[in-house]
Amino acid sequence: MNKLLISFLIILILSFFISCDDTITNQDVDNIVIPEKDVSFSKHIYPLFQVKCFSCHGNGRYEAGLDLTLRTRFVDGRIVVPGDTITSILVWRINRPPKSGFAPMPPLYMPQMNNNQIKGVKIWIVEGAKEN
Ligand code: HEC
Repeated sequence: MNKLLISFLIILILSFFISCDDTITNQDVDNIVIPEKDVSFSKHIYPLFQVKCFSCHGNGRYEAGLDLTLRTRFVDGRIVVPGDTITSILVWRINRPPKSGFAPMPPLYMPQMNNNQIKGVKIWIVEGAKEN
């Protein structure tokens, strides 16, 4: 009887935590429309990378040694060159098709970025890739 009660309580507590799960989903991010100007790192770019990129470039897995969880780690004058979408390696990868010879990011078998999101990242870079 006691075991049954304990199992019940554990399930109750677990379901409480699951229902309070506030992780952002692909759907949440795809519902955000990134504006044509004043793109915000915290409101638009970070959540976008969080759902589309962190599985391979964050949270303990850093493919190509690239950590996208901290702006200062990738706005480094190579991966992202503030103000310059031509030389920013990140743009080579997110363009469709990507710059020739480079694999697309995210890889094609992963949830893709839509046109608004790709454009939004470029606008953010043109506007200085700021921590705004
Ligand atoms: C499923 C795993 C996966 C996801 C998701 C992913 N990447 Fe990658 N990424 C890789 C791998 C593996 C490499 C290294 C192989 C290569 O260079 O193509 C890489 C390489 C890169 C590079 C090149 C780094 C360098 O130093 O040249 C960039 C830039 C990049 N990814 C950006 C992104 C961005 C931006 C996203 C999200 C929009 C993303 N990636 C999502 C796996 C992933």
